[in-house]
Amino acid sequence: MVREIVIYPDKILKQKSQPVTEFNEELHTLLDDMYETMVAKNGVGLAAIQVAVPQRVLIINIPIEEQDGAQPKENTLEIINPIFLDKSGKRKFQEGCLSVPGFFEDVERANYVKLQYQDRYGKEHIIEDDDFLAIAIQHECEHLEGHLFIEKLSILKRKKFEKEWKKKRLKSIKK
Ligand code: CO
Repeated sequence: MVREIVIYPDKILKQKSQPVTEFNEELHTLLDDMYETMVAKNGVGLAAIQVAVPQRVLIINIPIEEQDGAQPKENTLEIINPIFLDKSGKRKFQEGCLSVPGFFEDVERANYVKLQYQDRYGKEHIIEDDDFLAIAIQHECEHLEGHLFIEKLSILKRKKFEKEWKKKRLKSIKK
């Protein structure tokens, strides 16, 4: 089932998500719904708090370029209770977010990450990456702490964003 995405500046997005302790049917339904929601909105990643569930759950599914950007469900990386074991380097990448639709901006993050996490059955895994996945992991993990990528913008860019965002939101309310 496609769920409603929480849009900035909704305060829900500022909540810190809590660890998952039960790897049950409810969690599996949440993960399945998150996949459907992400694909419906053309996203590459989604954190549970973006569908108003404050739990340390996120998914990432990087489109396959050679297959017209397909995102088969079996390619979905389901990350629960993530812990960074290592981060290094720096890299700038243009990011977007389903909670800030239509806005894209360069953000600086670590180039390499090593992450420990649990899957939907509670089994522990370790993943490392120094490419787009590393960026996506950092973006989604930030959601679990109640932060958004726009907080990383320079003061000037942030002001410009807030002004444009307000205008855009007003327009969409009037419609
Ligand atoms: Co996001």
